[in-house]
Amino acid sequence: MWIFCSLISCFLTGGVAVLPAPQNLTVLSINMKHLLMWNPVAQPREPVLYSVEYQGEYESLYMSHIWIPSSRCSPTNSLECDVTDDITATVPYNFRVRALLGSQTSAWSTLERPFNRNSTVLMAPRMEVTEHGLHLVVKLEDPGPQFEFLVVYWRREPGATEHVKVVKSRDTPVHIETMEPGAMYCVKAQAWVKAIGRHSTFSQTQCVEMQGEPLPLALALFAFVAFLLVLMVVLLSVWKMGQLLQYSCCPTVVLPDTLKITGSSQKLITCREEADACAVAVLSSEHLFGVWISQT
Ligand SMILES: *[C@@H]1O[C@H](CO)[C@@H](O)[C@H](O)[C@H]1NC(C)=O
Ligand SMILES: *[C@@H]1O[C@H](CO)[C@@H](O)[C@H](O)[C@H]1NC(C)=O
Repeated sequence: MWIFCSLISCFLTGGVAVLPAPQNLTVLSINMKHLLMWNPVAQPREPVLYSVEYQGEYESLYMSHIWIPSSRCSPTNSLECDVTDDITATVPYNFRVRALLGSQTSAWSTLERPFNRNSTVLMAPRMEVTEHGLHLVVKLEDPGPQFEFLVVYWRREPGATEHVKVVKSRDTPVHIETMEPGAMYCVKAQAWVKAIGRHSTFSQTQCVEMQGEPLPLALALFAFVAFLLVLMVVLLSVWKMGQLLQYSCCPTVVLPDTLKITGSSQKLITCREEADACAVAVLSSEHLFGVWISQT
Protein backbone atom coordinates (compact mmCIF):
# COMPACT_ATOMS: atom_id res chain seq x y z
CA MET A 1 0.00 0.00 0.00
CA TRP A 2 2.72 2.44 0.96
CA ILE A 3 4.65 1.56 -2.20
CA PHE A 4 1.58 2.29 -4.24
CA CYS A 5 1.18 5.59 -2.42
CA SER A 6 4.75 6.70 -2.73
CA LEU A 7 5.02 5.71 -6.37
CA ILE A 8 1.79 7.10 -7.75
CA SER A 9 -0.47 9.22 -5.62
CA CYS A 10 2.13 10.96 -3.48
CA PHE A 11 4.40 11.58 -6.40
CA LEU A 12 1.65 13.00 -8.61
CA THR A 13 -0.17 15.04 -6.00
CA GLY A 14 2.97 16.15 -4.17
CA GLY A 15 1.98 14.05 -1.14
CA VAL A 16 -0.29 15.00 1.71
CA ALA A 17 2.01 15.31 4.71
CA VAL A 18 -0.50 15.03 7.53
CA LEU A 19 1.83 12.75 9.46
CA PRO A 20 4.55 14.61 11.39
CA ALA A 21 8.08 13.77 10.26
CA PRO A 22 10.36 11.83 12.65
CA GLN A 23 12.60 14.18 14.63
CA ASN A 24 16.08 14.16 16.10
CA LEU A 25 17.95 11.91 13.67
CA THR A 26 21.29 10.81 15.06
CA VAL A 27 23.89 8.20 14.16
CA LEU A 28 25.32 6.15 16.99
CA SER A 29 28.54 4.60 15.73
CA ILE A 30 30.70 2.28 17.84
CA ASN A 31 33.43 -0.01 16.51
CA MET A 32 32.38 0.57 12.88
CA LYS A 33 28.77 -0.45 13.57
CA HIS A 34 26.52 2.40 12.55
CA LEU A 35 23.00 2.82 13.91
CA LEU A 36 20.66 5.55 12.68
CA MET A 37 18.10 6.53 15.36
CA TRP A 38 15.13 8.87 15.51
CA ASN A 39 12.32 9.90 17.83
CA PRO A 40 8.97 8.16 17.41
CA VAL A 41 6.08 9.85 15.67
CA ALA A 42 3.24 9.82 18.19
CA GLN A 43 0.07 8.43 16.63
CA PRO A 44 -2.88 6.91 18.44
CA ARG A 45 -3.82 4.65 15.53
CA GLU A 46 -2.03 1.64 14.00
CA PRO A 47 1.70 1.05 14.24
CA VAL A 48 3.74 3.63 12.36
CA LEU A 49 6.37 2.39 9.92
CA TYR A 50 9.53 4.23 8.91
CA SER A 51 11.44 4.32 5.71
CA VAL A 52 15.16 5.14 5.52
CA GLU A 53 17.17 6.32 2.52
CA TYR A 54 20.79 7.31 2.12
CA GLN A 55 23.00 9.25 -0.18
CA GLY A 56 26.76 8.80 -0.28
CA GLU A 57 29.20 11.29 -1.71
CA TYR A 58 29.11 9.44 -5.03
CA GLU A 59 25.33 9.65 -5.35
CA SER A 60 25.22 13.29 -4.36
CA LEU A 61 28.06 14.34 -6.68
CA TYR A 62 27.66 12.16 -9.75
CA MET A 63 24.13 10.75 -9.73
CA SER A 64 22.03 13.91 -9.52
CA HIS A 65 21.36 13.51 -5.80
CA ILE A 66 19.56 10.21 -6.05
CA TRP A 67 18.55 8.63 -2.72
CA ILE A 68 18.92 4.88 -2.21
CA PRO A 69 16.60 2.89 0.08
CA SER A 70 18.56 1.48 3.02
CA SER A 71 19.07 -2.27 2.62
CA ARG A 72 17.56 -3.14 6.00
CA CYS A 73 14.95 -0.48 6.70
CA SER A 74 12.64 0.05 3.78
CA PRO A 75 10.45 -0.02 5.72
CA THR A 76 10.92 -0.87 9.40
CA ASN A 77 8.70 -0.63 12.47
CA SER A 78 11.72 -0.02 14.69
CA LEU A 79 13.06 3.38 15.84
CA GLU A 80 16.55 2.59 14.69
CA CYS A 81 18.20 1.24 11.59
CA ASP A 82 21.49 -0.60 11.22
CA VAL A 83 23.07 1.23 8.28
CA THR A 84 26.48 -0.47 8.58
CA ASP A 85 26.09 -2.29 5.26
CA ASP A 86 25.01 0.89 3.44
CA ILE A 87 28.20 2.75 4.36
CA THR A 88 30.98 1.33 2.23
CA ALA A 89 33.42 4.22 2.02
CA THR A 90 35.03 6.78 4.31
CA VAL A 91 33.11 9.72 2.83
CA PRO A 92 30.21 11.84 4.13
CA TYR A 93 26.82 10.09 4.02
CA ASN A 94 23.42 11.70 4.24
CA PHE A 95 20.39 9.95 5.69
CA ARG A 96 16.70 10.73 5.67
CA VAL A 97 13.71 9.09 7.34
CA ARG A 98 9.97 9.46 6.95
CA ALA A 99 6.97 7.94 8.71
CA LEU A 100 4.35 5.80 6.98
CA LEU A 101 0.84 5.20 8.28
CA GLY A 102 -1.63 3.49 6.05
CA SER A 103 -1.73 5.55 2.87
CA GLN A 104 -0.17 8.57 4.60
CA THR A 105 3.45 9.52 4.45
CA SER A 106 5.25 12.19 6.41
CA ALA A 107 7.78 14.64 5.07
CA TRP A 108 11.41 13.51 5.02
CA SER A 109 13.55 14.37 7.97
CA THR A 110 17.27 14.64 7.21
CA LEU A 111 20.38 14.17 9.33
CA GLU A 112 21.62 17.57 10.45
CA ARG A 113 25.22 16.96 9.44
CA PRO A 114 26.35 14.20 7.07
CA PHE A 115 27.86 11.21 8.81
CA ASN A 116 31.42 10.02 8.12
CA ARG A 117 32.37 6.61 9.46
CA ASN A 118 35.77 7.92 10.52
CA SER A 119 33.99 9.45 13.53
CA THR A 120 33.11 6.00 14.90
CA VAL A 121 34.02 5.40 18.54
CA LEU A 122 36.74 2.75 18.75
CA MET A 123 36.67 0.87 22.03
CA ALA A 124 39.81 -0.60 23.57
CA PRO A 125 39.66 -4.31 22.67
CA ARG A 126 38.44 -6.77 25.26
CA MET A 127 41.26 -9.16 25.90
CA GLU A 128 41.95 -12.42 27.73
CA VAL A 129 45.53 -13.49 28.41
CA THR A 130 46.44 -17.01 29.48
CA GLU A 131 49.55 -19.19 29.56
CA HIS A 132 49.87 -22.45 27.66
CA GLY A 133 53.09 -24.46 27.38
CA LEU A 134 55.43 -21.46 27.68
CA HIS A 135 53.31 -19.48 25.20
CA LEU A 136 51.25 -16.40 25.89
CA VAL A 137 47.77 -16.96 24.50
CA VAL A 138 46.03 -13.66 23.76
CA LYS A 139 42.36 -13.86 22.91
CA LEU A 140 40.83 -10.66 21.52
CA GLU A 141 37.20 -9.86 20.95
CA ASP A 142 36.59 -9.64 17.19
CA PRO A 143 34.51 -6.60 16.19
CA GLY A 144 34.74 -7.39 12.46
CA PRO A 145 37.03 -8.09 9.51
CA GLN A 146 38.17 -4.46 9.23
CA PHE A 147 39.91 -4.67 12.59
CA GLU A 148 43.54 -5.38 13.29
CA PHE A 149 45.23 -5.37 16.67
CA LEU A 150 48.55 -4.15 17.91
CA VAL A 151 49.53 -6.56 20.66
CA VAL A 152 52.32 -5.20 22.86
CA TYR A 153 54.01 -7.57 25.32
CA TRP A 154 57.03 -7.43 27.58
CA ARG A 155 58.71 -9.31 30.38
CA ARG A 156 57.91 -7.69 33.71
CA GLU A 157 61.31 -6.49 34.90
CA PRO A 158 63.05 -3.12 35.10
CA GLY A 159 64.11 -1.79 31.72
CA ALA A 160 62.29 -4.49 29.75
CA THR A 161 61.90 -3.97 26.01
CA GLU A 162 58.41 -4.00 24.51
CA HIS A 163 57.63 -6.29 21.59
CA VAL A 164 54.86 -5.55 19.12
CA LYS A 165 52.85 -8.04 17.11
CA VAL A 166 50.21 -7.07 14.54
CA VAL A 167 47.30 -9.49 14.56
CA LYS A 168 44.42 -9.69 12.08
CA SER A 169 41.03 -10.05 13.76
CA ARG A 170 40.45 -13.49 12.24
CA ASP A 171 43.78 -14.77 13.64
CA THR A 172 42.89 -14.55 17.31
CA PRO A 173 43.57 -16.18 19.71
CA VAL A 174 47.22 -15.55 18.98
CA HIS A 175 50.07 -17.60 20.46
CA ILE A 176 53.23 -15.73 21.38
CA GLU A 177 56.35 -17.74 22.00
CA THR A 178 58.17 -16.53 25.09
CA MET A 179 60.16 -19.53 26.40
CA GLU A 180 61.17 -18.18 29.80
CA PRO A 181 59.82 -20.51 32.48
CA GLY A 182 58.89 -18.85 35.75
CA ALA A 183 58.97 -15.31 34.27
CA MET A 184 56.09 -12.86 34.34
CA TYR A 185 54.84 -11.38 31.04
CA CYS A 186 52.48 -8.47 30.49
CA VAL A 187 50.25 -7.72 27.52
CA LYS A 188 48.19 -4.80 26.28
CA ALA A 189 46.39 -4.38 22.96
CA GLN A 190 45.03 -1.67 20.73
CA ALA A 191 42.52 -1.91 17.88
CA TRP A 192 43.45 -0.45 14.49
CA VAL A 193 41.09 0.17 11.56
CA LYS A 194 42.98 0.81 8.35
CA ALA A 195 39.88 1.96 6.42
CA ILE A 196 39.59 5.06 8.59
CA GLY A 197 43.23 5.34 9.66
CA ARG A 198 42.44 5.37 13.37
CA HIS A 199 43.19 3.28 16.42
CA SER A 200 41.59 2.81 19.81
CA THR A 201 43.18 3.39 23.17
CA PHE A 202 45.07 0.51 24.77
CA SER A 203 43.27 -2.14 26.75
CA GLN A 204 44.16 -2.58 30.41
CA THR A 205 47.46 -4.36 30.90
CA GLN A 206 47.22 -8.00 31.91
CA CYS A 207 50.10 -10.05 33.28
CA VAL A 208 50.56 -13.82 33.53
CA GLU A 209 53.32 -15.96 34.94
CA MET A 210 54.91 -18.62 32.75
CA GLN A 211 54.74 -22.07 34.31
CA GLY A 212 57.72 -24.11 35.48
CA GLU A 213 60.80 -23.31 37.57
CA PRO A 214 63.92 -21.79 36.13
CA LEU A 215 65.87 -24.97 35.14
CA PRO A 216 66.66 -26.71 38.52
CA LEU A 217 70.10 -28.10 39.40
CA ALA A 218 68.86 -31.73 39.56
CA LEU A 219 67.56 -31.47 36.00
CA ALA A 220 70.85 -30.01 34.79
CA LEU A 221 72.78 -32.88 36.45
CA PHE A 222 70.44 -35.43 34.94
CA ALA A 223 70.95 -33.93 31.50
CA PHE A 224 74.73 -34.07 31.96
CA VAL A 225 74.68 -37.74 32.99
CA ALA A 226 72.44 -38.59 30.05
CA PHE A 227 74.88 -36.81 27.75
CA LEU A 228 77.80 -38.85 29.12
CA LEU A 229 75.87 -42.09 28.63
CA VAL A 230 75.09 -41.25 25.03
CA LEU A 231 78.72 -40.34 24.41
CA MET A 232 79.85 -43.72 25.81
CA VAL A 233 77.41 -45.62 23.63
CA VAL A 234 78.61 -43.75 20.56
CA LEU A 235 82.28 -44.41 21.35
CA LEU A 236 81.57 -48.10 22.00
CA SER A 237 79.77 -48.54 18.72
CA VAL A 238 82.53 -46.76 16.80
CA TRP A 239 85.08 -49.13 18.33
CA LYS A 240 82.92 -52.20 17.61
CA MET A 241 82.39 -51.04 14.04
CA GLY A 242 86.12 -50.66 13.59
CA GLN A 243 86.63 -54.26 14.75
CA LEU A 244 84.00 -55.59 12.38
CA LEU A 245 85.54 -53.75 9.46
CA GLN A 246 88.93 -55.10 10.31
CA TYR A 247 87.65 -58.72 10.31
CA SER A 248 85.88 -58.41 6.99
CA CYS A 249 88.89 -56.67 5.45
CA CYS A 250 91.75 -58.83 6.70
CA PRO A 251 90.39 -62.22 7.86
CA THR A 252 93.07 -64.41 9.41
CA VAL A 253 93.04 -67.45 7.21
CA VAL A 254 95.06 -70.49 8.17
CA LEU A 255 96.28 -72.18 5.01
CA PRO A 256 97.53 -75.76 4.91
CA ASP A 257 101.33 -75.94 5.05
CA THR A 258 101.51 -77.16 1.44
CA LEU A 259 99.98 -73.98 0.16
CA LYS A 260 102.29 -71.75 2.13
CA ILE A 261 104.86 -70.08 -0.02
CA THR A 262 106.46 -67.51 2.15
CA GLY A 263 105.17 -65.87 5.31
CA SER A 264 104.98 -62.38 3.98
CA SER A 265 103.45 -62.88 0.52
CA GLN A 266 100.63 -65.18 1.69
CA LYS A 267 98.91 -62.50 3.74
CA LEU A 268 99.35 -60.10 0.89
CA ILE A 269 97.34 -62.33 -1.47
CA THR A 270 94.44 -62.67 0.94
CA CYS A 271 94.11 -58.97 1.37
CA ARG A 272 94.80 -57.75 -2.14
CA GLU A 273 91.26 -57.92 -3.46
CA GLU A 274 89.58 -56.64 -0.32
CA ALA A 275 91.38 -53.38 0.32
CA ASP A 276 94.60 -51.99 -0.95
CA ALA A 277 95.20 -49.85 2.11
CA CYS A 278 94.98 -52.88 4.33
CA ALA A 279 97.37 -54.85 2.12
CA VAL A 280 99.88 -52.06 2.14
CA ALA A 281 99.65 -51.89 5.92
CA VAL A 282 100.21 -55.62 6.31
CA LEU A 283 103.00 -55.60 3.75
CA SER A 284 104.87 -52.76 5.33
CA SER A 285 104.58 -54.14 8.85
CA GLU A 286 105.79 -57.58 7.71
CA HIS A 287 108.49 -55.94 5.72
CA LEU A 288 109.62 -53.86 8.67
CA PHE A 289 109.52 -56.95 10.85
CA GLY A 290 111.66 -58.76 8.30
CA VAL A 291 114.10 -55.90 8.23
CA TRP A 292 114.24 -55.86 11.98
CA ILE A 293 114.79 -59.67 12.12
CA SER A 294 117.59 -59.55 9.58
CA GLN A 295 119.34 -56.75 11.38
CA THR A 296 119.35 -58.57 14.74
C1 LIG B 1 17.76 12.79 20.45
O1 LIG B 1 18.32 11.48 20.37
C2 LIG B 1 19.33 11.24 21.33
C3 LIG B 1 19.91 9.87 21.05
O2 LIG B 1 18.92 8.91 20.85
C4 LIG B 1 18.74 11.37 22.73
O3 LIG B 1 19.75 11.16 23.68
C5 LIG B 1 18.15 12.75 22.89
O4 LIG B 1 17.50 12.83 24.14
C6 LIG B 1 17.15 13.02 21.80
N1 LIG B 1 16.70 14.40 21.88
C7 LIG B 1 15.42 14.70 21.90
C8 LIG B 1 15.11 16.17 21.93
O5 LIG B 1 14.53 13.88 21.87
C1 LIG C 1 37.11 12.35 8.83
O1 LIG C 1 37.41 12.66 7.47
C2 LIG C 1 37.16 14.01 7.14
C3 LIG C 1 37.37 14.19 5.65
O2 LIG C 1 37.93 13.09 5.05
C4 LIG C 1 38.07 14.92 7.95
O3 LIG C 1 37.83 16.25 7.64
C5 LIG C 1 37.81 14.65 9.43
O4 LIG C 1 38.71 15.41 10.21
C6 LIG C 1 37.96 13.19 9.76
N1 LIG C 1 37.53 12.97 11.13
C7 LIG C 1 38.20 12.18 11.97
C8 LIG C 1 37.64 12.02 13.33
O5 LIG C 1 39.22 11.59 11.64
